[in-house]
Amino acid sequence: MIKRPDAPWQLKTDLVTPKTDYLNRRQIMAGGASMVAASSLAAPALGQTSGPGENPALNARATRYTLSDDLTPYDAVTGYNNFYEFGLGKDDPARHAHRMTTDNWSIEVEGLAERPGSYSLDDLIDQDALEERIYRLRCVEAWSMVIPWIGVPLADVLRRFEPSSTARYVQFFTYQNILEMPGTRFPVLDWPYREGLRMDEAMNELAFLAVGLYGEVLPNQNGAPIRLVVPWKYGYKSIKSIDRIVFTDTQPETSWNQSAPREYGFYSNVNPNRAHPRWSQASERVIGGGLFARRETEMFNGYEAQVASLYDGMDLIRNH
Ligand code: MTE
Repeated sequence: MIKRPDAPWQLKTDLVTPKTDYLNRRQIMAGGASMVAASSLAAPALGQTSGPGENPALNARATRYTLSDDLTPYDAVTGYNNFYEFGLGKDDPARHAHRMTTDNWSIEVEGLAERPGSYSLDDLIDQDALEERIYRLRCVEAWSMVIPWIGVPLADVLRRFEPSSTARYVQFFTYQNILEMPGTRFPVLDWPYREGLRMDEAMNELAFLAVGLYGEVLPNQNGAPIRLVVPWKYGYKSIKSIDRIVFTDTQPETSWNQSAPREYGFYSNVNPNRAHPRWSQASERVIGGGLFARRETEMFNGYEAQVASLYDGMDLIRNH
């Protein structure tokens, strides 16, 4: 593991919750008000969690966004990844992502907004506003993980750019560097990786920009230093290592939709009723839960109450 220099927006160590308290704290949170109903299926025992790694700790307020399911063990969260810029294997990101340089990160903001420009992480992330949200990440490959993310609501960040009233969509791009990202030597996707949301989806309270997980700064393989987490959509919408944001009035290109439009739509809402052309989406493998641990996939990944109204009147099979 590469030791990362202190992130400028990291709290001083004396203010940070000791990492050993992490799981205890999580149990307290789980006892509090839970916005999302407990899974109807019994969650399997997940076994030993290794605990956070070596990245600097982040302090964060716990919020009401939590799940009663067991957390996916840290080793699985950081060792079983999709980050095609580092290769197609699930362990490629953990092996290669240390090559990515995330110092002095900036995000270019362009398009239909009053305040375009280049923003540092410090400009964008108010460390006092960091929250912890436990969201399930449900991959289109029919597996899922429950991850304690740390970050801020996407809406709070986007508002700073003062999007124009004509901005109907927002597009995100991942950092690209062929020397650091061996997977980008191959035209697996049209690099750089890109994703997009309709503005009202982006401004929904659940859409989240993560800068950490498990109480620490985001490991590179999980999309350091800043990535999207859109919990009601398939994981591929949750674009990693964002370095460019563009406000547009037309539906933007997204990497997976460009590469296989029949398989991956623009909306990409978790929908157990729409099978992927090559496999069912009715249930999902619980990563870290043992060989046979599965759960039934929920509409909008369980967040129907918060997001279904965004899609009123839309055919969610056609608009997949
Ligand atoms: N972002 C980039 N830049 N490149 C990718 O390959 N994969 C997506 C998404 N974001 C991907 C990405 C997919 S398919 C999933 S399931 C999630 O990241 C996985 O996030 P995780 O590795 O943190 O679990």
